[in-house]
Amino acid sequence: MLEVNIDASESTESSDKTVAVAPINRLCGELRLPGDKSISHRAAMIASLANGESILENFSSAQDCAATLDCLQALGIGVEKNGSTVTIQGRGAAGFQVPAKILDARNSGTTMRLLSGMLAGQSFATTITGDESLLSRPMRRVAEPLRLMGADVDLEHNGCAPLRIRGRRLLRSINYQLPIPSAQIKSAVLFAGLFADGVTSVAEPAPTRDHTERLLREFGVPVERNGNKVSVRGGQELSSKRLFVPGDISSAAFFIAAAASLPGSDLLIQDVGLNPTRTAFLSTLQTMGADISLSHERLEGGEPLGSLRIRGIALAPKALEISGVTVSNLIDELPLLAFLAASLGCEMTLRDAGELRVKESDRIAATVANLTRMGAAIEERADGWHLEAGGQLHGASISAFGDHRIAMSCAVAALSATGPSQIEDAGNSVAVSLPEFWSLLETVRE
Ligand code: S3P
Repeated sequence: MLEVNIDASESTESSDKTVAVAPINRLCGELRLPGDKSISHRAAMIASLANGESILENFSSAQDCAATLDCLQALGIGVEKNGSTVTIQGRGAAGFQVPAKILDARNSGTTMRLLSGMLAGQSFATTITGDESLLSRPMRRVAEPLRLMGADVDLEHNGCAPLRIRGRRLLRSINYQLPIPSAQIKSAVLFAGLFADGVTSVAEPAPTRDHTERLLREFGVPVERNGNKVSVRGGQELSSKRLFVPGDISSAAFFIAAAASLPGSDLLIQDVGLNPTRTAFLSTLQTMGADISLSHERLEGGEPLGSLRIRGIALAPKALEISGVTVSNLIDELPLLAFLAASLGCEMTLRDAGELRVKESDRIAATVANLTRMGAAIEERADGWHLEAGGQLHGASISAFGDHRIAMSCAVAALSATGPSQIEDAGNSVAVSLPEFWSLLETVRE
């Protein structure tokens, strides 16, 4: 079993997957996080369609983004990694080559869905597969718009990957109404739109992260927004770019939550992405009374970023109710919010979040199972949960269910629980988004 106070390299490379986490007093010091996962995927993909060399600094260390880079290499794109800097040799919009093998997105839904948009615009067929978790996630949502644009997309009978995509050099532009809010599907359609005649538009039922739109503009492609609709014209040239990827706010969220819930903490996180489609977690914590201040706010590569200082104070938050359009801005942080609310004895009701059931794990079931084991009174609902006020979490044997965000959410709750916890499956699963999680925690725990 791993202890949380061991060396990082051991914790990320060990084959022993259970991690023991003991309560700590507070988090103090400074952190800088690897680049945002969503931005890194998109920057690498878009750079591969540009003409010439793009340099992406502070590229994500996530295994998910490594899967994207491997797929691009298999499509004939030159990719070089030097520390956290990734250099992409773009070959222009028509530069992908027939891959010699099946593309493997591993655990990464973003790789599979976004890249599908680009593969739909190729004059050859490609198959893209993934690990057991990804092979159980819904893919009709991406196949449908790409078929409307003229690509042939075959799925398994259950609507899941592997996806076999027979693309077309010139796709049909469409005006697509997304049935659910999804930045991945919006991005796939916009990417396919780069290979279509005329203007492709996507309307979204609720605002989702807009990194694709911002990055396309950075690489020289105008993207129009009109209300809830974004549009791109096909057949444009993309120019190469040097850019800095801001630190991942969804990874920072685990440290922010831990510091906010442990009185006496004082944590500075530098150069974090502050894109307004991703910051609902910060405002939710602020409404819970957390002391979070921002400094050095600026714009780089079209994305806002800045430094965050979190001071731990005794919190006695009022009931938290989350539903409707806020859900997409908080989608990756909802389990963490439940673990935090339970640590603080705060009531929480979540509705309209059925999407959590089709993430890397069923995150509604995983959250409820773990919090129940830690002593919380939480009821599972089809589209969320209801957590009762009061109570305190005790250490327990809990499980990451092979899901990176569940592993880190469990760790945050275990840091302030009474007594030690063992988190099954947590040693390696964090590597999907933040391989450095355990070692970074070591540097700021007291
Ligand atoms: C992502 C979009 C979200 C999110 C995922 C990353 C992206 O998924 O949960 O972690 O980078 O576009 P959906 O588009 O399925 O909501």
